[in-house]
Amino acid sequence: MHFASDNSSGVAPEIMAALAAANDGYARSYGADALMERVTAQIRQVFEAPEAAVFLVATGTAANALSVALTCPPWGAVFCHDKAHVAEDECNAPEFFAGGAKLVLVSGDHGKMTPATLAPALARIGAGGVHSLQKGMLTVTNVTEAGTVYTPAEIAALTSLARAKGLPCHLDGARFANAIVATGATPAEMTWKAGIDLLSLGGTKNGCMGVEAVVIFDPARAWEFELRRKRAGHLFSKHRFLSAQMAAYLEDGLWLRLATQANAMGARLAQGLARINSVTQAHPVQANMMFPEWPGGTNARLQAAGAQYYAWPLAEGREGARLVTSWSTREADVDRFLSAF
Ligand SMILES: Cc1ncc(COP(=O)(O)O)c(C=O)c1O
Repeated sequence: MHFASDNSSGVAPEIMAALAAANDGYARSYGADALMERVTAQIRQVFEAPEAAVFLVATGTAANALSVALTCPPWGAVFCHDKAHVAEDECNAPEFFAGGAKLVLVSGDHGKMTPATLAPALARIGAGGVHSLQKGMLTVTNVTEAGTVYTPAEIAALTSLARAKGLPCHLDGARFANAIVATGATPAEMTWKAGIDLLSLGGTKNGCMGVEAVVIFDPARAWEFELRRKRAGHLFSKHRFLSAQMAAYLEDGLWLRLATQANAMGARLAQGLARINSVTQAHPVQANMMFPEWPGGTNARLQAAGAQYYAWPLAEGREGARLVTSWSTREADVDRFLSAF
């Protein structure tokens, strides 16, 4: 009953096997390995983007912070949701790597910005000339930090406002596969066709050991990213082990099969909880992460029964929790949790 994070799951067997296979013999270092060529070809095909540039890093924070740095000048504003990972969970890495950029927090229910909340924030750009907020970039997270999912149309509604102001647009796709499975959209529809210029494509949460891809749809920006990655200490010498993970992840749709399992277990858990009268959900459950609320005392009982997850007290005798399912969650894990409840 491990629902603390999709990061607490292990490595998918196919990816572990690919790592072992990559360990055979010698390969060129620093991203010049043959497996990286394969990864670039796979991503270009999956995203219907024959020109896309692809870079691998080991953490989502690196992918996001370097993406922000590439697209936002030091004096620029980074528009993001007020609960965004870049704002809450990256120790100011985006601001640091962008040389002092300012995060502008945009509100919105259930983890999502809307045109109505984004537009007034964008309107502040340049309002006071040299003294005021300057043009930077927009970053959107899908799956959101609230476990909800933007449709491509919802993303396009945000990017069209940002692009009208000349802002490049980034997608934090730490759980991109889960968002694709949840919506049925194609990777292209969710990104460049919806106005996204660059993407942090997650691997780690969904069965890799530690790899994320930055996909840049405008190849003119590729060399600068290459330099920024090296300068930040994120260019791996034994890069083939990053490539091997991402190549296996994308091979024959493994990434989507893993996310399908994670989302299906999320749905099973949410459906089971929906049958319990005292349980409510803080946000609609749309992928593999949920925030149930239940009567006081429940967390102690569930945790005594062996369930693992993050919990917190709420007002009026209620308690909250975050439950995350992953590619390795089994029906039996979910059912045991529901029985324990
Ligand atoms: C939305 C989101 N973005 C990015 C990340 C990547 O973070 P890390 O640097 O821990 O790999 C996470 C991980 O929790 C996340 O939830």
